[in-house]
Amino acid sequence: MELLFVCGLILFSLLVSMSLAYLLSNKHKSSYTNLPPGKMGLPYIGESFEFINTGRKGHPEKFIYDRITKYSSQLFKPSILTQPTIVFCGPAANKFLFSNENKLVKVRGPAAAKKIFPILMKDEHSMMGRKMIFNFLKPEALMRYASVMDSISQKHFESCWEGKQEVVVSPLIKGFAFCVACKVFLSIEDQQHIAKLADPFSALISGLFTIPIDFPGTTFSRAIKASKEIRKGLVAIIKQRKIDLEENKASPTQDILSHILLATDENKEHLSELHIAEYILLLLIAGHDTTSSVMTFVVKYLAELPHIYNEVFQEQMEITKSKKPGELLNWDDIQKMKYSWNVACEVMRLTPPFQGAFREAISDFTFSGFSIPKGWKVG
Ligand code: HEM
Repeated sequence: MELLFVCGLILFSLLVSMSLAYLLSNKHKSSYTNLPPGKMGLPYIGESFEFINTGRKGHPEKFIYDRITKYSSQLFKPSILTQPTIVFCGPAANKFLFSNENKLVKVRGPAAAKKIFPILMKDEHSMMGRKMIFNFLKPEALMRYASVMDSISQKHFESCWEGKQEVVVSPLIKGFAFCVACKVFLSIEDQQHIAKLADPFSALISGLFTIPIDFPGTTFSRAIKASKEIRKGLVAIIKQRKIDLEENKASPTQDILSHILLATDENKEHLSELHIAEYILLLLIAGHDTTSSVMTFVVKYLAELPHIYNEVFQEQMEITKSKKPGELLNWDDIQKMKYSWNVACEVMRLTPPFQGAFREAISDFTFSGFSIPKGWKVG
């Protein structure tokens, strides 16, 4: 009886807060006369279920295309993941968004991101770190990792693919991508240590694009718990690395963690440990599903198109023949993989691994005759 009462109370509070959020968003909406077409759906929930379901079924673009057709407009307004959002479609609209970064709009994750990245989502912290990580991700900075990635790939194929009649590609590649990330970002190779980070990581990924209801048992609540667990693990790694760098047991250039730890901003200040942990977490998330999706689809298309497979095979074999036994790939070898790279690009064109990022309007503006209210998500 008591339990029933508590559950009822929690449900009631949830409904009250949802209705309040809905009323607030509608109050905001009513003061704008020419918003793009679209419906806001159910209170608070909006059209989130449809948005999430089309993604789960593997057709996230369907949510967008259905509405472009329905409203005959390059701009439409659903309410997704609890926030009123204006979706910009097509080259002109996207060019407008990208050329107004930090003028009219700024990158802002989905509502869930605030709880997963409490520090990064605060503006004053984000710019310096963002500049830093983009420097570490430039091709010239990544060159030195070619042989590292080759070595991990060879071990992966030997242990997981060779001699098997059948393999389930997607989970294998996700595991492989996570191993590469652990090595390149953190110099972690120990499989047990990787598994300790990987388990909460999948819970975190599942909760990132979901309705952000932090209530025991929800996907989102599990994701927050997982993010705290990973952050704790990352802070421990960061602390140890600081000691290792001081004692010359680690190299300043061995991985992205060393680079971030030693980098300073214009005031010669280092990022805090928690800040670095969130950046590493962001890199793990940003690089994971994107790269593993491309690799999985490359395998799918190569299996379906033997003539393309043969061309890729030829190119790879020629590079292999030019190497000494046991010699790992280097950046020059990667540059020679022109056909293979074109295949990867075509795969990304046919099945984009990422549907787009959320931004937020930092002031009221108009585009194509429509009002875009300050504070609304755009994407
Ligand atoms: C095929 C692989 C990938 C694709 C297609 C891809 C695509 C994208 C796209 C479309 C964005 C949003 C850009 C914007 O709207 O401003 C983005 C952001 C980003 N990506 Fe990637 N990405 C890939 C791999 C990676 C990898 C491997 C990493 C890290 C090692 C990474 C790190 C990031 C970061 C840090 C951001 C910015 C996030 C922010 O500003 O909040 N990405 N990526």
